Formats: sequence, C-alpha cells, structure tokens
Amino acid sequence: MLEEVDRLTRLVENLLTLTRGEAGRIPLTSALVDVSDLTATVSEGLHVLAEEKHQSLEVETASAVTVRCDPAILRQGLINVLHNAIKYTPSGGTIRVVTQHARSGEAVIEVKDSGPGIPAADRQRIFERFYRVDAGRSREAGGVGLGLAIARWAVEANGGRIEIESEEGQGALFRIVLPLVQTDGGRGAVASPSGSAAEGPRAATSQ
Ligand SMILES: Nc1ncnc2c1ncn2[C@@H]1O[C@H](COP(=O)(O)OP(=O)(O)O)[C@@H](O)[C@H]1O
Ligand SMILES: [Mg+2]
Repeated sequence: MLEEVDRLTRLVENLLTLTRGEAGRIPLTSALVDVSDLTATVSEGLHVLAEEKHQSLEVETASAVTVRCDPAILRQGLINVLHNAIKYTPSGGTIRVVTQHARSGEAVIEVKDSGPGIPAADRQRIFERFYRVDAGRSREAGGVGLGLAIARWAVEANGGRIEIESEEGQGALFRIVLPLVQTDGGRGAVASPSGSAAEGPRAATSQ
C-alpha cells in the first residue's frame, strides 16, 4: 500500500515536471558544465543499483567536454537513461557510459547496455509519455513510462538531442548530443555540475 502511494507520488511529480517543462514554465539556468564530471557523478550515484544486479558499470570519460546547460536538468535526463540501462539489462550484464567530442563539434554522452534492446517499431515511441515496450514485463521493473519523455525534454531544453541505436537482442545505445563549448583545454573557468566538488577517480567499475 505504501509502495503504491510512493509510486503515485512519483508519477504526479514526474508528470508535473514534464508538463511544466514542456510549457516552458521551468526556468533553466545556464552554466558551463564539464559533461565528463557530470557523467562520473551520475554513474557513481547509480553504481549501487548496478552492483545489486552484479552488472559491470564501466565509465570512460574524455577531458574538456564542456557544454552550456542547466546542470540539474541535464543530470536528471542522464539519470533516467542510465537508470533504464540498469533496470532493463539482466543481472550480470554490462553497461558502458562514454563521453567524447564528436568530429561535428558536439559533446556526446553514450549509454550502452547489453540488455534486450528495443524493437525497431518501438524506437521512436519510447520517448512518448507512458509508452512502454512490454507493459507486462516492464511493470515488474517499476516505473510508469515517463522517464524517457523527461530525458528528451531535459536534453532538448538544453539545445541538444537524444538518439537511440539498437539491434533487437543486442542491447540498446542511447546517445545524448549537445553543442560543445570550446575551452582552453580545461584551464578555463569551467563550472562543476551544481556544486559537486572534485569527486574522486573518473573511472569506476562495479563488481
Ligand atoms: N535500456 C533499455 N533497454 C531496453 N528497453 C528500454 C531501455 N530503456 C527504455 N526501454 C523501454 O522504454 C520504455 C520507456 O522507458 P521510460 O520512459 O524510462 O519508462 P519506464 O522506465 O518507467 O518504463 C520502457 O518501459 C522500456 O520498455
Ligand atoms: Mg525509465
């Protein structure tokens, strides 16, 4: 019963975020953000969930991948994508998170998992509110189908896009792409993601 109340509370909160966000009623802040720091922080935060499933969570970050964005909102988008990778990948699987500069002058965050992948027919629809590939199976995993709708809003509100590549049965790859800001090789005044101070080693592997 309490769990059900929790679930409904989260649902309402998520729906509010999305509705207000899409209506442009969530004021975005703008800061220079080191995407690799943000990715490392998010991965460390969710590490324990992967550990519980005996999954290996590998993080590989490039230096000076800087974007201008609202760090809290981008972070929420990345959390939703990484959380899905852990949730939908069976125990013992592998999740790999990579940041890099694309040749196109963009910053890229990739989250790749060894889970069931996403059938072609569902690939665009999974960003819709409440859309879930296999409602029966997904219900066991919790969630209501708002995570990716929020992730897409979070990325697009920050001037980026989110893409999927997936061969069914061969895992899913989610790619977040944002305009890169040129810095002087990391020596410039680059803000860290909302107040998170230096946070230990960049690469972390669970298990
Ligand atoms: N990494 C993934 N691997 C396989 N399926 C996924 C993955 N990420 C998302 N999905 C599918 O997309 C659907 C929508 O995801 P999301 O919006 O986060 O909702 P929820 O996780 O609450 O179901 C999920 O129900 C699942 O079917
Ligand atoms: Mg989800």
